[in-house]
Amino acid sequence: MKKINRVLRLQQSRLIMFGLLFIFSIVLLMSCAKKKIEEEYLEAKKSIADSVYMKKGNSIVSLTFDTLRSSLLSAISTHGMDGAIAFCHEKAYPLTTTFDDSVVIRRTSLRIRNSNNNPDSLELLILKEMEELVQSAKMPAEKIVRHPATGEIHFFKPILLQAMCLNCHGAPGSQIQNATLVKIKQLYPEDQAVNFKEGDLRGVWHIVFNAEKNRHSH
Ligand code: HEC
Repeated sequence: MKKINRVLRLQQSRLIMFGLLFIFSIVLLMSCAKKKIEEEYLEAKKSIADSVYMKKGNSIVSLTFDTLRSSLLSAISTHGMDGAIAFCHEKAYPLTTTFDDSVVIRRTSLRIRNSNNNPDSLELLILKEMEELVQSAKMPAEKIVRHPATGEIHFFKPILLQAMCLNCHGAPGSQIQNATLVKIKQLYPEDQAVNFKEGDLRGVWHIVFNAEKNRHSH
């Protein structure tokens, strides 16, 4: 009788042990699954947010670019190429900066004309990355870079040189007429934005969302 009792107790405690182990592993599994779901959710949320900013960035660029291009074309037709330089000088910079308090719109390049467009360290990194792609005949894509500490979201879009741009960014003397060149040199003595070829990376659009105030005051 005593022996039977001992065996029973042993079986009972084994049963309890297995039971506990079973419950423990279920809880562990559940928390793993929950963590995975949470991770997937965060990942999905991030990529949704990225695509929203991608869309926002693209529409700001096309709005700004369309405004710039149509005003540039009408300036060229009324004032000629050299007259249009003055337009770019007076209008392009303000056009690309004013939009909304928390949104900064910039154009920058590895070879700049206006020193206000000098690239900062992040812009330089992106420009070099895109330049490498273009050099190896690959198409650079738009890009989102997040800055978790400040909450800033940066949208970058490559600017490739088109035929009509050669009038002011191509080869001096042949593609850029002398009168135009004189005007450019006069307004931008330090100009580096010449000798581009069609298809070259001319620069990038850089849109900053949730921009910290006075970030680009340089
Ligand atoms: C009529 C002459 C003219 C034409 C045509 C022209 N640009 Fe420019 N571009 C300028 C001037 C002037 C500036 C400097 C504007 C400023 O003061 O912000 C400039 C500045 C830029 C910048 C800003 C970076 C920097 O170097 O300061 C980019 C990018 C640019 N141009 C790209 C283009 C592209 C792409 C085209 C063709 C679609 C084009 N431009 C056509 C005259 C021209």
